[in-house]
Amino acid sequence: MSRTVTLGTNQNLESVGSIAVVVCWDSQGGVIFSSALQEILLGLNLTFSVNGAWLKEQGLKEKVGSSLVVRNIHGANVIILSGGLGETLSVDAWRKLAAAAARASAPRSGAIVVIGSAAVSESAAAGACVEGATLASYVYSLKDTTEEGNFYVVPVGDATAELRAAVAKAQIIADTANWVKELCNLPAGNLPPQELARRALAELETRDHVSVEVWDEQRIATEKMGAFLDVNRGSDEPARLVYASYDPQPGAALAHVILVGKGVTFDSGGYSLKPPTGMIGMKSDMTGAAVVLGVVSAVAQLKLAVKVSAITPLTENMVNGRATRPGDVSVARNGTSIEVLNTDAEGRLILSDALVLATEAQPDLIVDVATLTGAQNVALGSEVAALFATSDDLASDFTAAGERAGESLWRLPLVDSYDAYLDSDVADVKNIGKAGEAGTIVAALFLRRFVSDSPWVHLDIAAPAESDANKGYLTKGSTAFSFRTIVEYLRTLSER
Ligand code: BES
Ligand code: MN
Ligand code: ZN
Repeated sequence: MSRTVTLGTNQNLESVGSIAVVVCWDSQGGVIFSSALQEILLGLNLTFSVNGAWLKEQGLKEKVGSSLVVRNIHGANVIILSGGLGETLSVDAWRKLAAAAARASAPRSGAIVVIGSAAVSESAAAGACVEGATLASYVYSLKDTTEEGNFYVVPVGDATAELRAAVAKAQIIADTANWVKELCNLPAGNLPPQELARRALAELETRDHVSVEVWDEQRIATEKMGAFLDVNRGSDEPARLVYASYDPQPGAALAHVILVGKGVTFDSGGYSLKPPTGMIGMKSDMTGAAVVLGVVSAVAQLKLAVKVSAITPLTENMVNGRATRPGDVSVARNGTSIEVLNTDAEGRLILSDALVLATEAQPDLIVDVATLTGAQNVALGSEVAALFATSDDLASDFTAAGERAGESLWRLPLVDSYDAYLDSDVADVKNIGKAGEAGTIVAALFLRRFVSDSPWVHLDIAAPAESDANKGYLTKGSTAFSFRTIVEYLRTLSER
């Protein structure tokens, strides 16, 4: 069982194993210590007095996250964390500080004392701490873990209604992010398409104003999703498609956003088989699907005033005697014929049908999320996802939402002239471009052929979807990357 993170009070400080406090620095290199924090430290009966000069002498550094553990044989250890320069202390720094405090206190119970600053209000800081500590406290369900103590986020001032609302929102976001991470971390053998669909249904059918349909292979065939079905042909596990919609005010003129998520529950590459090392980690090739399903759950819990749908084609990409051969031609829902020259470029195939389905509902915006290309890792690495958008406004809105969420996105161009790389001799389009050239952009251009003239955002999260270590508030394994960004984007959209 993972620990629970909750809003606490001064009383909780009396019973926890460790208490973290955050101090900042002024531009002259002095330590900023508020009187409220001093009072809390005084109340802990430390045998010595904690002040700026002493902290520097003990080696506390200005760098954000620098820490000092003050052992206290009489009670809780005190963890002093540096928040860096006071005026630059950010929401994301609070998330990371709370994550560090939660990790440092484990397996005992712990707390972090939260205080407002010129840069971040106490409410925002409390929300950020709950978010960071909850994300960092995630443990994978199939792993035996000992029960850990609670972690409290304790504001110096009153728990105002505004502060409690910020904490409740953060709890929804972090808990749902952890639900997404769990799906991505499960072995592919434990989460075939049917099981992923079952879990999505179980999560979403409990939410108000959410309707969910799960399509089986027959329905998918009736819907003429040939490219999607052809990817599934090599698998013994039947395909599924989840179509979920949150509509808080049916009939009202709310903006409608359709999210499309790549749901490849395992990507072997198919006949264009991946080498053994390339196959490792391919259980999380359904991160896009888990993310968009999680977003629908979160916006419903947050009761946002926006209509949000999620479409997730779910399949394995495997090999058997019926699997697609390189050179075979698939026909997508809109009649586009696709020459499949590389069966490992399967994500764009299943997304083509799902994007066509999305355009038919004539939404105000389509956003797709996919662990689409290895080239994304080459271009931007594991901390920055590739963003494509049909307008500058959409690009800047998503980039800004990402910055607030602590997830970096960098826009890449939809280079029109590269579209010709996808021209095929035997079909309308082929599923790969030129080897070694702009793989992430060409994949996006392939998808663009299926979105008609709908406003559209494409997020390629191939590398950021996973973290190779516990780092800040990220836990090793799935990061649910882009989940918090999309929720943040929808929140601003719902307030417009
Ligand atoms: N799922 C992979 C992309 C991927 C690679 C995600 C590494 C996470 C880590 C995708 O289906 C794929 O195999 N893409 C190919 C496309 C190529 C054949 C045009 C790739 O990037 O190599
Ligand atoms: Mn692949
Ligand atoms: Zn894939």
